[in-house]
Amino acid sequence: MESLRRLSFVSIIALLAYFAFLASAELHVREFVIEPRPVKRLCRTHQSITVNGQFPGPTLEVRNGDSLAITVINRARYNISIHWHGLRQMRNPWADGPEYITQCPIRPGQSYTYKFTIEDQEGTLWWHAHSRWLRATVYGALIIYPRLGSPYPFSMPKRDIPILLGEWWDRNPMDVLRQAQFTGAAANVSDAYTINGQPGDLYRCSRAGTMRFPIFPGETVQLRVINAGMNQELFFSVANHQLTVVETDSAYTKPFTTNVIMLGPGQTTNVLITANQRPGRYYMAARAYNSANAPFDNTTTTAILEYVNAPTRRGRGRGQIAPVFPVLPGFNDTATATAFTNRLRYWKRAPVPQQIDENLFFTVGLGLINCVNPNSPRCQGPNGTRFAASMNNMSFVLPRTNSVMQAYYQGIPGIFTTDFPPVPPVQYDYTGNVSRALWQPIKGTKAYQLKYKAHVQIVLQDTSIVTPENHPMHLHGYQFYVVGSGFGNFNPRTDPARFNLFDPPERNTIGTPPGGWVAIRFVADNPGAWFMHCHIDSHLGWGLAMVFLVENGRGQLQSVQAPPLDLPRC
Ligand code: C2O
Repeated sequence: MESLRRLSFVSIIALLAYFAFLASAELHVREFVIEPRPVKRLCRTHQSITVNGQFPGPTLEVRNGDSLAITVINRARYNISIHWHGLRQMRNPWADGPEYITQCPIRPGQSYTYKFTIEDQEGTLWWHAHSRWLRATVYGALIIYPRLGSPYPFSMPKRDIPILLGEWWDRNPMDVLRQAQFTGAAANVSDAYTINGQPGDLYRCSRAGTMRFPIFPGETVQLRVINAGMNQELFFSVANHQLTVVETDSAYTKPFTTNVIMLGPGQTTNVLITANQRPGRYYMAARAYNSANAPFDNTTTTAILEYVNAPTRRGRGRGQIAPVFPVLPGFNDTATATAFTNRLRYWKRAPVPQQIDENLFFTVGLGLINCVNPNSPRCQGPNGTRFAASMNNMSFVLPRTNSVMQAYYQGIPGIFTTDFPPVPPVQYDYTGNVSRALWQPIKGTKAYQLKYKAHVQIVLQDTSIVTPENHPMHLHGYQFYVVGSGFGNFNPRTDPARFNLFDPPERNTIGTPPGGWVAIRFVADNPGAWFMHCHIDSHLGWGLAMVFLVENGRGQLQSVQAPPLDLPRC
């Protein structure tokens, strides 16, 4: 009797604690209206697709544990869907967003409410359109603060500045894509990079809009740097100031200082910066890290870090002093890019899976599709071909009539197959001089099935077909540990011995070293259809993608939720 009474007392306390916990979590109800708006950059005005008329789109600020209900209303003339990049969406692939993978797109005039909860994640993520090239202008920051009262593992500055790096075309990005899809050649490179939507002082007609960030002498601020660019890895640096890296892709790191960081499209990096230099004006700048043997946008975007007590020029030519320019690495400085990435460590001991159930080896790279008529206007790629890209020689084709997840959930055949190969169908010297006979991939919509809670390792091996290149590989629905990397071909006998299974960085996007490999590990604890792809959009369009189908576990708490009633119809 006494023990029974104590039990009910304990459960009442537990219940109260649970309600207090619920009360501290917030529900954020927002509307994202997708609509064209005039945006003037590089002397010309374009009708850009925006969210709520904003470019870049609105910043979402939430806390770990909060829920969001974001109604996307499509008032543009394109189909669209929105992806919450890096959010795990546990058992809720319906809110993930990639079109034809987890949902059909939201048609013009239609709407869809993305409902999801932030579960055990904090830091800098972002959201973007996941429908053809609409993410060129449809993107924004998603900032997750820790739960109330939960500390940061470093001393967190009072001020936070989101730095969204983007790419701007002096054309409608959808027309740039359409042209590339027609000709089979590479898409035109961008005309500018941007910081928070502004190209900066080094571009025509841009000076007035250059972003300026005032800072107090002695103050430390956190920059949340996001590479929202479409197709380009970027170096980022601030003149005369050291950057202390504290987080990548919403995972804390062991802090370290550096003059320059490198981010592939999709990646985020938080750095602390202290105003400990002579009062003045300092450029922050980003420009290409281009590992491929291919054309790229060779321009530089800038913003200005302005000490509030910066001196002004006196007498004639009065006004602000010219900002100091940072030293940026050369565009092909793979040594600097690799050295930076290799310094990243998880902030504490990481729960890395030690025993592996699924040992996967995926080649990633470009390819060429031969044409029957190489002189055709549709075959403007190298030597009368069309560009392609693949993983394990499979060039991914998006379904057109349904999404992979809906087909999987409802058991509809004919949308995808589950025969994505765990290893390359043909083994060859991936980073050597690859025979032309191996340059043409096979097209298909192929998925790889994983058992619930399987311990997965994937070695992503870049190939030298067409060109070696850093491919920023992104996995939806998961965070993974980057346990090893190297140049050349992965050696399964010697390389695993050097893996870091203690404190490897946790990420959602990792670049393959150009002509090299990277190994990642994760536990397949999130059932659903999860897209894995290169975050360079031209490569994604060429087929550098595949899908993981993670099976349900036992019972409701290990199974995919029922789809929401307003899920767009296919
Ligand atoms: Cu940031 Cu599949 O995307």
